[in-house]
Amino acid sequence: MRNEITSVISGYVNLKRRGRNPVGLCPFHGEKTPSFTVYPETDSFYCFGCGAGGDVINFIKRIENLDYIDAVKFLAQRSGMDMPENSYDNSMHKLRLRIYEANREAARFFYTQLNSPGGKSGLDYLHSRQLSDKTIRMFGLGFAPDSWSALTDYLIKEKGFYPSELIQANLSMQNKKGGLIDRFRNRVMFPIIDVRGNVVAFGGRIMTDEKPKYLNTSDTVAFKKSNNLFALNRAKNSKSDKLILCEGYMDVIAIHQAGFDFAVATLGTALTQEQAVILKRYTNTVVICYDADEAGQKATARAINILRKEGLDIKVLTVPDGKDPDEYIKRHGNNGYIKFKQLLESTGNDLEYRISKLKQRYNNGTTDGKVKFMTEAAKLLSYLDNQIEREVYVGKLCEEMGVDKNSVNAQISKYIRGRYKREKKEEFNLAQSNLTGNGDRLNPHSADNIRAVKAEEALIAYLMLNPDMVRSVYAELPPEKMITEFNRRVYSVLTDRVLSGRNISMIDISGEFNEEENSRIASVLAKNIVEMNSPEACKEYVDIILSEGNKHSAGEIAQQSDEDIQAYFNSLKKGN
Ligand code: UTP
Ligand code: MN
Repeated sequence: MRNEITSVISGYVNLKRRGRNPVGLCPFHGEKTPSFTVYPETDSFYCFGCGAGGDVINFIKRIENLDYIDAVKFLAQRSGMDMPENSYDNSMHKLRLRIYEANREAARFFYTQLNSPGGKSGLDYLHSRQLSDKTIRMFGLGFAPDSWSALTDYLIKEKGFYPSELIQANLSMQNKKGGLIDRFRNRVMFPIIDVRGNVVAFGGRIMTDEKPKYLNTSDTVAFKKSNNLFALNRAKNSKSDKLILCEGYMDVIAIHQAGFDFAVATLGTALTQEQAVILKRYTNTVVICYDADEAGQKATARAINILRKEGLDIKVLTVPDGKDPDEYIKRHGNNGYIKFKQLLESTGNDLEYRISKLKQRYNNGTTDGKVKFMTEAAKLLSYLDNQIEREVYVGKLCEEMGVDKNSVNAQISKYIRGRYKREKKEEFNLAQSNLTGNGDRLNPHSADNIRAVKAEEALIAYLMLNPDMVRSVYAELPPEKMITEFNRRVYSVLTDRVLSGRNISMIDISGEFNEEENSRIASVLAKNIVEMNSPEACKEYVDIILSEGNKHSAGEIAQQSDEDIQAYFNSLKKGN
């Protein structure tokens, strides 16, 4: 109650009032027109674009990347309250803490190994990559010895971890005979540390040309690679107002060592929207600094699209001579700092980068090439939201190419209109499939029961807003009469709670459902809150559900075999 949903969310989303509910740009997916809505009345939020929804705890879970208990703690802290320690089921939370602890011990172990005689090959390797001892210490780099189970044995015998904990931390694996072995063997180790300082995962590089070059921790309950960034724990403290986004561990470390403490990297996967959201939390400007090879350039184009959706200013740093940033810095030895700084200062924004790529592609000597180039350029410019910015670029390009401004502007408008139409169509299709319940995994029978589902959902929303009506509705409509499975479950929770004297607003019931289910409940609220809310309407919902249920049993009887029907009549005769 002390964490009023609008005030909590407005700490993350710029909310504006539209109609009776505040709306804003959804923080969970990229969008340009707001479909993220907050419902103070039901203490819920729902995004019509991506379907994310729930109560204030669900919101904090998602945006702060916490589990349920930690989200509650977070909100308790926000409102200056203490949270009792042992009155809840916190096994998941405890496991997560154990994994952090095991990872921390593992990082210490790897570090000690690196600096012991047995780790000489690892240390030599890192030195051969020109990393200084200071850098090695700063990043906590280590060495996993060439042994089957050195770390596993150490953590179990010396530190008292259970095998199951080490498996869930992805530090150990079961071999075919059922014995435990180390996941990382004979590799130099890069610990991945989250912004709160927990060691959440590792990357391990082999010191030869063997494959795979890097082995990474798989996702665990304490780690999702899609929403972590290597070295963000350091970069977030930088004085710089930018972040440099690289492809690899070694690039980040080399850039830091050269004197730029604001480089981060994704963890062996393409940039995700979640990571872009995180970057946006720490900066307004991202400098993409990917490899100069073709794969790197493709990845750059992808990353631009993703970052753009979060409204980030994007710059693209191109390393000359087809090198990756690490090689480039290394090649310039003591001049690494100056040389990289020059690159950093000469970066163009993403649009300039793309236009220069277009120019390379189409030979402007020919008329045909010129037309193709200008058409593609107009398409790029059509993505610019800021009209002034657009004008400036159009002016510059047209002058350069000797083309008429009006025709380019007309082309741009055409692109914008076309895209708008497509977006509307997609929205329509989505709404259509929502309406017919096709492909509804959560409530699989909804497609066959459209009329019933609508009534069920309207009823659920009505009751959540009018809990004093639950008892009388329950008398007429016991939970087993609800037709579709998920709605039946929600209805049971609502009625159970009211009958035992408990509350049923979103925040009271959200603990009984998972994230997807809470999103659905929020969507049911969002879609029904505008409907007529009256006891008469409520009665009608109940009637519809009951009559749809009767239709069902009639239909089922028709489909039953003669024997079944005979058995049914016999049972009626016997009176059971
Ligand atoms: P790179 O091969 O560009 O890495 O892959 P790098 O950092 O330049 O490697 P060095 O310089 O040869 O040591 C980029 C990133 O992709 C992930 C790693 O995160 C790596 O840093 N990757 C690469 C893997 O996860 N597994 C692999 O087998 C290869
Ligand atoms: Mn490299």
